[in-house]
Order: sequence, then C-alpha cells, then structure tokens
Amino acid sequence: MRSVWSETVSPPSFPRLEKDVSVDVAVIGGGMAGVLCAALLRERGLECAVLEADRVGGGITANTTAVLSVQTETLNAERIRKQGFEAAKLLLDAERDAIGRFRAHAEKIPCELTVLPALTYSLCDAEKMKAEVNALRSLGLDATFTTDTPLPFPVAGAAQMPGTAQFHPLKFLYGMTNGLQIYEQTKVLRLDGTTAVTERARVNAKKIVVATHFPFINRHGLYFLKMYQKRSFVIACKGAKPLGCTIMDEAEDGVYLRSAGEFLLIGGGDRRPGKKGCGFDVPREFRQRYYPQAKEVRAWGNQDCVTLDDLPYIGPYRSGGKDVFVMTGFGGCGMTGSMIGASVLADELTGQKNRCAKLFDPSRRMKPLPLLRNGGEAVKDLLALRRPRCSHMGCALRWNPEEKSWDCPCHGSRFRANGRIIDNPATRGIQTKR
Ligand code: FES
Repeated sequence: MRSVWSETVSPPSFPRLEKDVSVDVAVIGGGMAGVLCAALLRERGLECAVLEADRVGGGITANTTAVLSVQTETLNAERIRKQGFEAAKLLLDAERDAIGRFRAHAEKIPCELTVLPALTYSLCDAEKMKAEVNALRSLGLDATFTTDTPLPFPVAGAAQMPGTAQFHPLKFLYGMTNGLQIYEQTKVLRLDGTTAVTERARVNAKKIVVATHFPFINRHGLYFLKMYQKRSFVIACKGAKPLGCTIMDEAEDGVYLRSAGEFLLIGGGDRRPGKKGCGFDVPREFRQRYYPQAKEVRAWGNQDCVTLDDLPYIGPYRSGGKDVFVMTGFGGCGMTGSMIGASVLADELTGQKNRCAKLFDPSRRMKPLPLLRNGGEAVKDLLALRRPRCSHMGCALRWNPEEKSWDCPCHGSRFRANGRIIDNPATRGIQTKR
C-alpha cells in the first residue's frame, strides 16, 4: 500500500553509521521534521547528523497528503474560545510563517508546490462557518465565506482561506537533504546523556533532537499518556477534474480532498490504531457516491500523533531539560507542523527566543480529564488476555485485515504480519504466530 508519492520519485541513499562521530546536534528521525530541523540548524552554522533507523522519508512523510494549511482539527473560533485569542493568533502566525518558509525553499527545489486556497466546509451549519470566517479575520487572515465550491454537492457554507499550498512531499524532502550529514539504517538504541548509541557506533553530540514521529524514549516525558495516534485512510483516483483548492469537511467523521496531478486524493475514516472504525470504507463510499466516474488506483493509510489540546509538543523533552529536545504531536498538519517545529527548535538551540516556545512547551499543564480518558483507553487492552502482545508496554494487539498488520490499541504501535515494527513508540518487533 504505497502512496502516489513513493511511486513518482527515486529516493537518494545515505551511508550507515560505521564509526563514532562528533557533532553539535544529533537529530533522531529522517522524516520531514528531522530533515528540516537539521537543515535550519545547518543554515545557522551548526554541524548536525541525522540518524534514520530505516530510509529517509520512508515513514509518515511518504504517506501524508502534503497540504500546507492553516486548518487544524480545532476550528479557530473554538480555539479562541477554549485557549484564548493570543494562543490562536500565535498558532496561525506560526502556520503562515511555516508556509512562507516552504515556499521560499521550494523556489530552489522542484516539488510541484502550488499556492491555492483551502476550504473548510460544513454540510449543515452555515453559521458555524460564518463564525469561523470571522475568527480567521480577527486573527489577521483574509478569509471569506462562500457556498460556491468545486464539490459535486451543495454545502451549507465554507470558510475559504488564501495563501495555503500543496506539494510533493518526497521531492521536497529529498531536495532538502542536499548537503546534510545523514545516516540511514542507523537505529538509535539509547541515549547516554547527549550521546546517541546506535548498533555500530556512537554519535557524541552537544544537543539531541528527537523527531521520531512518536518520541521513542519512554522513561521521561510520558508522551504515551499525553498523546495518542490516529490512523487515516487515503485513496487516489483517476478521472476526476482538478479541484483548484484543498478541501476539508469540518465534521469529525468527514473527508478531506486534494488534487495531485492526474489524481484526486480522498482521505477519511480516521480511527485510533487497533480500534473499531470505518477505515477505507469512508473515502471509498464518498468516491462511489460523488465521483462514480473516477477509478481508484491506489490506497494507503497514514498515522498522526494527536495531543490532548491539539497543539504540538515542541521543546525540551522533559521539564527542565536543556540538552534533549522533541517535536511531535502535529495532528493532521504534519507538514506545516514539521516546519514550525524545526523553526522553534532552531531558535531554542541557537539561544534565540521564539514567540511560540511557551505555547508548544511539551511540559505545559494538561487538563486532568483528557489525561485520565487517554490513559483509560489503554487499560482494557493491557488487561486483555489475547496474543500477540505489543513490545512497548505489553498491550494485546489486534489484527488489521485491511492493512495486514498487528495494531496496538493502547498507544498506536504497529507491526507487520511477520512481527517487524512499522510504527513506534515500540522500538522492537514482536513474536507472531497466526
Ligand atoms: Fe504502547 Fe503498544 S504502543 S503498549
């Protein structure tokens, strides 16, 4: 189940780390977040090594729909109400700044970056979308209300946002690796202070950045309590007209769409890994109903880390830490979030103050109820007697027949049928007998 991106570009290759090296910063994880962070730090004169357990861009980045957007799971009107105007403004400004940085880099990297508007629509609640437009305008974005969309059905209303973009994530990522010191097939086994210990050699660094999608060092930070993973399902179809914008349904169980060359991408069916849900049925039924002339040619799943307040965790890995940093929890905005994370950490690691550092601080106070609820999600599957068990904390795994994987309902690790690890926080495979 490979995405359309993996099929249309050849990856560069990088050596395995064979002997000890010393650098200013070791960045663990060679996805969009890790590579961007290393590139921004290098621009500021720091020597970085990117350590990737598998291949650069081989994980989440290969499966994103690659929309550079200011749309998050939480509508801005709601965010202002819950988190305050200042927090909403800081986030929106950071997202717009991140899109600007992508556009600037894309001038030198052929990556099909196209600037086009984003639409968030509601099928039944025009007032909600009018309130969203007002919220966006109060935050400084020139959004407009419309009922005129390229969708083949009427909507009650939509918020149209200018200045957003879409691109080919792997073409961009591979372009950004130019000049970076990258080691592939180099799995970090543990950190001894700021030394990253890999299977064959050590990286002695002054600082460490953990950009491994789900932070893999579990003894600090409690990320498995204050974050969960969400799986989303995408189909690529041929035979539909280009949309001319990116589109998202504001409803929790809604779909999202973008065009990519000859493809129309339809995503949805979100659910926690290992939990019940509709999966591929949602984008497939949508295609059948609204784009019957279009033919499905590819299907794949993707996985996002979601925080309990829908703001990313970017900053010291644990409270008071000064040497190990993390960026994670970008929700459905992995691309924009990666650039925000890289920018914030580039500032932090070079002694510059970043306006968003406090807002995204991973040790910020969480409300107790969502924490309890998230922790409680794991208890049932921790106590269940089924086998096989997850190598992270021992939860009972569930077989995912659509994607042929063992999925962990507790914190979202996934394993191939043969037990090889696909998604962390687990760091090693499992024994399987089916
Ligand atoms: Fe934590 Fe499986 S991912 S127990």
